[in-house]
Formats: sequence, C-alpha cells, structure tokens
Amino acid sequence: MCGIIGYVGDKEIVPLLLKGLQCLEYRGYDSAGIAIHRGHNLNVIKTIGKISNLEEVIKNKTEYNGKNGHINCGIGHTRWATHGEPSDVNAHPHFDTEEKIAVVHNGIIRNYQEIKEKLTHHGLTFVTQTDTEVIVQLISRNLKKTKSAVEAISKSVNELEGSYAIAILFKGESDKIYAVRKEAPLVIGIGNGENFVASDIPTLSQFVDKVIRLNDNEITIVTKNNVEFYNLSGEKIKKEPQIITKTKDILDKKGFKHYLAKEINEQAEVISNLLKDFLPGAGKPVQFDCLKFDPSFLKNIDRVLILACGTAYHAGLTAKYILETLTSIPVEVQFSSEFITASPLLTKKSLVIGISQSGETADTLAAIKKAVSTGATLLGITNRADSALADLAKEHLILSKAGVEISVAATKTFTAQLTVLYLLAVYISEVQGLRRAEIQSIKQELRELPQLVDQALLRAEYYQEQIIKYANKRDFVFIGRGVNYPIALEAALKLKELSYIHASGYASGEMKHGPIAVLDPNVPVVSICVPGETYDRVIQNSLEAKSRKAPMIAVAVDGDKKADSIFDTVLHIPQISEIISPFLVVIPLQFLAYYIAEALGQDIDQPRNLAKSVTVE
Ligand code: G6P
Repeated sequence: MCGIIGYVGDKEIVPLLLKGLQCLEYRGYDSAGIAIHRGHNLNVIKTIGKISNLEEVIKNKTEYNGKNGHINCGIGHTRWATHGEPSDVNAHPHFDTEEKIAVVHNGIIRNYQEIKEKLTHHGLTFVTQTDTEVIVQLISRNLKKTKSAVEAISKSVNELEGSYAIAILFKGESDKIYAVRKEAPLVIGIGNGENFVASDIPTLSQFVDKVIRLNDNEITIVTKNNVEFYNLSGEKIKKEPQIITKTKDILDKKGFKHYLAKEINEQAEVISNLLKDFLPGAGKPVQFDCLKFDPSFLKNIDRVLILACGTAYHAGLTAKYILETLTSIPVEVQFSSEFITASPLLTKKSLVIGISQSGETADTLAAIKKAVSTGATLLGITNRADSALADLAKEHLILSKAGVEISVAATKTFTAQLTVLYLLAVYISEVQGLRRAEIQSIKQELRELPQLVDQALLRAEYYQEQIIKYANKRDFVFIGRGVNYPIALEAALKLKELSYIHASGYASGEMKHGPIAVLDPNVPVVSICVPGETYDRVIQNSLEAKSRKAPMIAVAVDGDKKADSIFDTVLHIPQISEIISPFLVVIPLQFLAYYIAEALGQDIDQPRNLAKSVTVE
C-alpha cells in the first residue's frame, strides 16, 4: 500500500509532487508528505490526512516554491497506515537520526522489530512507530561502513524481510533519487531533461511517454538526464525503456460529483468495449487471442480454482455458477488470504484463475504463486497491464480494460470482470463442444447487454428516490440465490465500504438458519428476485423476513406485479434472464450504497480506513 512519487528536473517541484500524489491517493490517504533538497539541506514536510491537507500546510511556506532552471529533486508519499497510527510523526518521508537521509516506503518490513532492537542496542533512537524508520536508520548506519550509497542500500535491503518499494534522498547528493524494490511496484518515468519515479504507470503517463519498470532486487539512481540500474551485488545492469499508452487526465470527474458516480455510469461502455474485443458477430466463437492454451488442456481441465479478494472475489463466485453451468468443470473459489495457508489440491490439469483489478494485491499474488508451484496453469484477469499479476500471467492474461478506476469502491471494474468471466465460460464451453444452443442464446443476450445496462443507469434518480428513506437504518441484510447470491455479498460490501452501515449478504435459504434472528423494523432486507429457477424460493424467504417486520426492498424486473405487492420498495430493472441478470441487478445496488452514503455525508471516493490497492498481506 501507499503511493510513492519522485521528481528530478528543472520544473517547479512541489506542484509536480502534489499532482503525482493526487493520482496515487487511491493507494492510501492516512497522511502525506514530501522531502526535497534545498540548498545544503534536506527538507521534509508532512501531515496527517489527505493530500489536500498537505497542500494547505505547504501553501504559505514560500521556501517550498521551486526555482525554475535549477535542479529540483524530491520525493513524496501518500500513506495507508500499517505500523503505527495515522499521525504527523508516522507520516512519510522518514529521516535518519542525523537528518541526512530521507526515505519513503511502500510495503511491510516483517522483521522490523528485530532490526529496531538491534539498532536501539547500538544507541539509535526511534521517533516513529513505523516499520519504515528501520530502513532509513539501517541505510544511515551502513553508509558509514561502505563506500557508496548503492552499497549501503544493497547491504541494508539484504537485512530486510518483507516487501518494499523505497525511494531515498541523501543530503549532499541534491541531484539524485535512489530507489530499490522487492515485491512492491516502482516504475521510472523517462522524460526530456527530467525523470520521475512512481508507484504506477498511469501516474507517470501524466508526465512522460516512456518508462522503465524496476524489477525485484534492482537499485536505480535517477538524475535529470540519466537513469542507472544496479543489482544488489553493485553490478551495473542495462534496461530499455518501453513506450506507454497515455492515460487521459485521470483526475477528470467528467461533470459528475464523485468518481464513483462517473465510474458507475461508465459500465455500459466498458461492457460494450469488451464485447467488441472478444465476441465476434453471430455464429462465430468467442475469441481470446491473449490466451495461448492448447485446446487439449481446456478439454481436460480437472478443476478450476479462482483466487481473489474483495469485489474481485465476488466476481469469482459469480463465475463459479456460470462456469459450472456452461462447462463440465468443477470450480472452487477461495479468498486469496485463506488459500495462502491452505493445502492446495491441484494437479497439472488444473486451471488457476487469479482475478485482481489492481494486479498488485499482495494476498492474491502470494496465493497465485503458491497455486502455480503445484504445476497448475495460471490465467490472470486484471485491469492493469503494468501489474505484477500481468507479469505472472504473461501467457494467459485477459485485461479487463475498464479504464482507470479512482474511487476506492470498485464498480465498473466489477462488471468488467464479470463480462470477461462470462465470455471465458462461453469460450471454454465452445472448445469443449458443450451446450451449443444455450451458448448461442447467452451470446445473443450478452450482445444486448450494454443497451439494458444503459437503461438501468438512466434510472439513477428513480433509484435515489426509492432508496433515500432507508438512510437512517443501522443494519442491512441482502439476500439472493444462485447466480445472484454473490451479488447480495457484493451489495453488502458496497454499502459497508461507502456508508459504514453494517450490512451482510446471505444465500436467501440460509436466513432461517440463524440470520433471521437479527431482523426487526430497523433492519431492511433487500431481496434479489429475478424470474427463473430461484425466484419462488427467494420470494418465500422474503415473506419469512417480512413476517418479522423487516422493511422489505426488492430488486425485480419491470412488470413483476408479485414483487410490487409484497415489498415496500421495488427497484425495477429491465427484463432479463436469470443467468445474465447479475449485470443489471448490481446497478441499483451500487446506487443504493452510493445514495445512502451521500445522504449520510460520507467520503464517497475515499472511505475511511480503506485503500484501493492493498499491497500488504
Ligand atoms: C481492496 C479494495 C477492494 C478490492 C480488493 C481487491 O480491499 O478496497 O475494493 O476489491 O482490495 O483488490 P484487487 O485489486 O485485487 O481487485
């Protein structure tokens, strides 16, 4: 977690670092800070809270205004707290005792306590509760025993256990940023007479056209006109820049009040673009040129294991239903964090599907590494071509191409994952030569989907009117069955993330086995009732809840008179078949979370305690 930016060049540095940090704020917003060279000194300025707080603090300090035409060199950081509460003192950058070295860090140092004890024994004092402070103190100590900064850095990181992307400034080297990484992202942006470092490529694409990705255990020295790379033995290595696709101004809300609203409203377009890429005209099979499977592997898969976290896990759970319906393969879905300590029952015939919007989620990366160590084949689904998951899954990688998602709560990337997973199920089924008629009708429905999603999106105001009266409730229960059970889980997660109201999702048949005990007039039940195999049973379970006096809300299709007569509030969606319905059902539920959170005055795009990309286990 946490975001890192660095700049060396002639431009005014503070606005550049702040813009970079704003692009990275999705990675954490507990505190922010910058370190810059000024004269002979290293200056650090940092504060608890968001980048906007840091901007306020900096505003009146004229010494932080840049000097165009001189070399300006600095690093910045936005934090998601792991070790030590969010506070000014725990904010990065961190200094060594002599204030000669400033460090920003993304990751976790697992053995920081041991190092801290050792260094304390040698007389060093620590002023923060962070794991990062041991890095800067170690480098400082090693610098005294070594000949160069590169040697000191490599000696220090050799003592660290854990994951890290680190950028470092040394007093007296006012034209250089040093950086090193292991299992956390860091990229160098190559400009003209200026260079950058950052945690991701979209941020760098605001400033440059070319980048060089730092690999594990590589050290870089970045100056205005040059970038050098070294391995941990101090040997120079050669790396070539790659041209990147420019991401248009990622901070543009396009007239929406929140990024979340903008992203919810982009879903029809996202689905449509993916269908254009992978679903050719009628009569033709789904095409994934990005997958290099031998057809005999796909025909003989013994099981599929899906690994993911959070919203991506819910996309995986939905995919289980679709894959098991359309193919002959048993599918298991596990939280990545649970799989890390599980016993993998995989073979060389197994397919592991790793799903991660960011492609950087530490739990998912660790779980995938464990799964593939059994000889199973990996297929990756991610929104980020520049991510660690994209690297791991080079051979079989599907990009979900939803565009940059800024709001921490995932919406359009969820429907993008669903689209890819549905198409994948159809693809495998076609290779296996199964369920031909059913597949043709699903493909036709998928083609019609963007238009239906658009229709649902146009109902935003109607959903708002229906939903807003429930904003004062303390708990919510979401229920669904079959393919819509994961959507009940996703709806509960969205509401928790955005509004901080406690919410749970249940398979509706499970309500009577315990959860029904929580119901009373203050706990609304939201039922997903789409005509099909599960409909009557969900209605039955909803009536059981209604008789416990819970306020009753339904997501139901247009013209469903039965739902109208049973529920207090019905969020209508266009008519759709049950198997495709998750794409439409999720829309009023995303709006439900959004409008309730907005009514409560919550921080929509940056909910408390969360970060979009969780790069620690
Ligand atoms: C974090 C985010 C969630 C996200 C989860 C998995 O917890 O707050 O919104 O679903 O990580 O992220 P990934 O990038 O792996 O899909």
